[in-house]
Amino acid sequence: MQDRKTFYITTPIYYPSGNMTIGHTYTTVAADTMTRFKKLTGYDTYFLTGTDEHGQKIEKKAAEAGVTPIEYVDKIVAETKELWKLMDIEYDDFIRTTEERHTRIVQKIFRQFYDQGDIYKSEYEGMYCTPCESFWTPTQLKDKDGEKVCPDCGRPCQPMKEESYFFRMSKYQDWMIDYIEQHPDFIQPASRANEMINNFLKPGLQDLCVSRTSVKWGIPVDFDPKHTVYVWIDALSNYITALGYGTAHDELYQKYWPADVHLVGKEIVRFHTIYWPIMLHALGLPLPKQVFGHGWLLFGTDKMSKSKGNVVYPGPIVARYGVDALRYYLMREMPFGSDGNYTNESFLTRVNADLANDLGNLVSRTVAMIEKYFDGALPAWTDEGFVEAEDAPLRDHCAALPALVEAQMDKLQFSQALTEIWKVIGECNKYIDLTQPWILGKDPDKKARLANVLLNLAECVRFVGVLVGPFMPKTPARIFEQLGLSDDSLKSWDSLGNFGRLPEGLRVKKGEALFPRIDIKKDLELLSGSTTAPAKAPAQPAAPKAPEGDKPQPAGEIGIEDFERIQLRAAKVLTCEKVKKSEKLLRFTLDLGTETRTVFSGIAKSYPEPEALVGRTLILLSNLKPRKMMGEMSQGMLLSALDEASGALRLLTVDRAEDVAPGSEVG
Ligand code: MSP
Repeated sequence: MQDRKTFYITTPIYYPSGNMTIGHTYTTVAADTMTRFKKLTGYDTYFLTGTDEHGQKIEKKAAEAGVTPIEYVDKIVAETKELWKLMDIEYDDFIRTTEERHTRIVQKIFRQFYDQGDIYKSEYEGMYCTPCESFWTPTQLKDKDGEKVCPDCGRPCQPMKEESYFFRMSKYQDWMIDYIEQHPDFIQPASRANEMINNFLKPGLQDLCVSRTSVKWGIPVDFDPKHTVYVWIDALSNYITALGYGTAHDELYQKYWPADVHLVGKEIVRFHTIYWPIMLHALGLPLPKQVFGHGWLLFGTDKMSKSKGNVVYPGPIVARYGVDALRYYLMREMPFGSDGNYTNESFLTRVNADLANDLGNLVSRTVAMIEKYFDGALPAWTDEGFVEAEDAPLRDHCAALPALVEAQMDKLQFSQALTEIWKVIGECNKYIDLTQPWILGKDPDKKARLANVLLNLAECVRFVGVLVGPFMPKTPARIFEQLGLSDDSLKSWDSLGNFGRLPEGLRVKKGEALFPRIDIKKDLELLSGSTTAPAKAPAQPAAPKAPEGDKPQPAGEIGIEDFERIQLRAAKVLTCEKVKKSEKLLRFTLDLGTETRTVFSGIAKSYPEPEALVGRTLILLSNLKPRKMMGEMSQGMLLSALDEASGALRLLTVDRAEDVAPGSEVG
């Protein structure tokens, strides 16, 4: 028997410097959807994701949280895995760059590069911030009163040299240009290939700094241990170390490499289409078949960023609308390759229009009519009930649907693939209006015709049920249950080879609406603020207690469920300064354990020496909707008590702050 064709797909390995957002979820859902589709169509698939755990940023975050780097990343990795479970992500392996299976091989690869002359020792020159122990490039520095300062702490930087190893990228520049030009499918979308050639390769490829002596949290260079391997050799190698490359057990590597596709956000296309291929070429290994650089999910018109307080987290959305609704939205809303906006409104609108109306109604109407006119048992196909003029276009379109979907999926055009499916759903709904089963149902002579109309619809629903599975893994079972379909062979890709296979006698069963209709106005209010809270958001944003239409009640007694909507967290002050152009405002940066936030507070008059607050642990209302103040987002509100007599505001703090970790819940 011939072996099945293999399909190896990867996501970037994410930095576990904070909780994963809807942006990381976007890439991961795309990879999972593709894997499920390939599996459905008969491939032997392998799906790798993981975390990129070394480097200065993690080192620093851990120090701020008062834990070791590995303790810090362990917690985020556990939460990341929980999130992927919640999102129904079925990866085959999750690689962590701190694992021995990875570090050992990275050391081996680094040594091989050095031994064969691809890596040489020299000096790295940059601007150095001594207190932060960080190098910065000139473009990263911030300007403060005409002086170049550290973007993290705002203190002055000095030019500094550091001994480093460099990879001789320049040597491979011409080879790389030729390769990209001769392999038009290698970089997708194609416009990104031009960008690589014109912006990075043709102007001259610089050698890449690949080690640091100033970063301790990294993989030591085994033949020169004061150096650690710096970022990209460590990170990119994950795609082969996870497969056992370089070990005695490299069966997975032999089976799956080269990867069919690396999915990456557009900002890291350069590393994957220039540095990574050069590294592989230098190792004498084949190159991945394709690198697909997708666009960014923006928030409004902004790139999501924690410092702007506009990051969206999937937890609260999934808790309220289900994982399939969010997966559908992510894959449908924007073409893969382009940027797009996330807004609660566009999400809710899509769920209502596409899922509740188009798909949900088709399934419920079809099932309800079979119940009503045939006592819930699927009738038999009859020749006399077949009317070509109305039926053939729908049947032909549906029969062609699997190929149409596959053609789009082969180009990673998830949104187009869904559009194809929804065209058939739309056609079915029109077919109902056209054939008017409720009129046919009144005429006993039209029973055979009615049977075929409903069978055509039920069969289309079966096709749709199979085809939406890779996008929305929970939905097919719910559709098949309503159709009364238990035979797995009718849920397969192969079963879509011909139209009209639903057997007579299936007992349909009307169930709950697949996707209940949403009152968009009401839900927009409910969601406001809650999606920008990190993972551990309330399981379900609490529904308003007052009956609809009632005015908000003045604060009287509240129930505990009202209080639970409020998230209070212990926040440690990292910096605090007076805002120059304001009399009232102080600007805080606060440590919340897994993230840092900027918050403005109107208490300047009560605290004439704001620096004295650094190190104190305060109480932050953390799920207050972020708002723009002094050109920046303020992400929460610090609680304080007002002394009415003097007008002084006094910040709330915690007793024995040393016992309370930043980010601890208050309640
Ligand atoms: N660790 C590197 C990648 C190394 S791969 C060998 C890294 N990590 S990251 O945590 O910053 O993740 C970046 C990736 O997350 C992006 O390339 C993209 O896949 C995904 N996204 C994170 N935020 C995103 C959006 N707002 N929109 C779309 N994708 C984004 O870079």
